[in-house]
Amino acid sequence: MTLRCHSLFCFSNMSPASNALKCNLHFSITDEIGKLESCLAAIKSMNVSLTRIESRPSKTADWDYDFFIEFQAENQSQVVQVVEGLKKHTTQVRVIGSGTAVQGGMSLSCGLYWTPLIEYMTLLIYIASLFVETSVPWFPRKMSDLDSFAEKVLEMGEDLSADHPGANDPVYRKRRTEIVQIAKTYRTGQPIPHVDYSQQEVETWGSVFRKLTSMFPDHACREHQYVFPLLVQNCGYNDKQIPQLEQVSNFLKDCTGFTLRPVMGLLTSRDFLNGLAFRVFHSTQYVRHHSHPLYTPEPDVCHELLGHVPLFANPDFAAFSQEIGLASLGATDADLEKLATIYWFTVEFGVCREGEKVRAYGAGLLSSFGELEYALTDKPEKRPFDPQVTAVQKYPITQYQPVYFVAESFKDAQEKIRAFANQMERPFTVKYDPYTQSIEVLDSKEKVVKYAQNIRDDMRNLTMALEKLM
Ligand SMILES: [Fe+2]
Repeated sequence: MTLRCHSLFCFSNMSPASNALKCNLHFSITDEIGKLESCLAAIKSMNVSLTRIESRPSKTADWDYDFFIEFQAENQSQVVQVVEGLKKHTTQVRVIGSGTAVQGGMSLSCGLYWTPLIEYMTLLIYIASLFVETSVPWFPRKMSDLDSFAEKVLEMGEDLSADHPGANDPVYRKRRTEIVQIAKTYRTGQPIPHVDYSQQEVETWGSVFRKLTSMFPDHACREHQYVFPLLVQNCGYNDKQIPQLEQVSNFLKDCTGFTLRPVMGLLTSRDFLNGLAFRVFHSTQYVRHHSHPLYTPEPDVCHELLGHVPLFANPDFAAFSQEIGLASLGATDADLEKLATIYWFTVEFGVCREGEKVRAYGAGLLSSFGELEYALTDKPEKRPFDPQVTAVQKYPITQYQPVYFVAESFKDAQEKIRAFANQMERPFTVKYDPYTQSIEVLDSKEKVVKYAQNIRDDMRNLTMALEKLM
């Protein structure tokens, strides 16, 4: 009997004592009613519980969807059972990850025919004991893929934790539910719906606005101070009204191509950073509870509009932020955690050097009057921004930071992030195509040649421009 391999199996963890296998399996299906259900039913019938399942549109024309599943198998024969069960519902070879698992400079081609099946399984398990698999997590390729994040919030949004200032206020909770409906139903390409903020919400915003704007001249970085009057002029920033995300998003788009996208609450680090790769910033629209206008345990529209937005209008900061986003696409969990830590110490709590002084550019500082004042004193430690060091720095989330990292410039920080991303485990490079608003994975000779040709065209333009200036 000749068997054709229908899937790629990656064994990422083997326990000699229990013989248990942590198995990652990729399979592809066509878009037929009940197709996925039949695959999952086949797995379930073998008493196998999935610990992870992810899907993405298939990269191969003959297929519609790729699925990534993870499960703990009791032994090899149970894995074989799952393979056999799935083979009754998928009928074509589909090797995910370009058919290559690489470690230590060697590669394993997976697009093979094996007979009998048990030999195939045994060989793969043997090879897996020698090599660590590199399974690439799903990531968005085009702007509309961000729609899949719409309801994937970790916390907050509609459900408030017990210690939230508005947790026991039914009126506030009802209002939050109304506002997050916008994010829940928002889809790529739509204008962000207008929110009619109540008088109470505007007063809360006004308190925050007045307090923070009185501190910006002595504490905010020059890039923030340069943009802020433009937001007053173009987006109606003042203490009498809360600017609308749509108007602010359009302003940012004109400045740097960044856009805002409403979000229900906290996204996973991976989803949130992935958005930055598209120059998309996920922004809340609701307002903190009126009982504590100068405190919020979560991001709210005051934090987004006063802390984040001004910097996203700066071209160097926008490029720096996108660099973190691009590095996060398909990053391993370990690398993703490092990038999230870098994001924390830069975009949220970053400070930068301005001559002899240090100024704040992180939104967590620029939207918190207490920490903004504290951060620029001599009390906390200041270290130079170095992604290798910053990425592993521990930090508290409910108190002021004991350590801040000082960037020399956004340009310098961007270069450092690019170098950091280059030594990550990810076996490919990505680039963002602003014309199609999509991510291109540079994993073939043809794509790299096309990329080089585009750069050559740009170089011609640059040369002509220089000649005209001479
Ligand atoms: Fe933030």
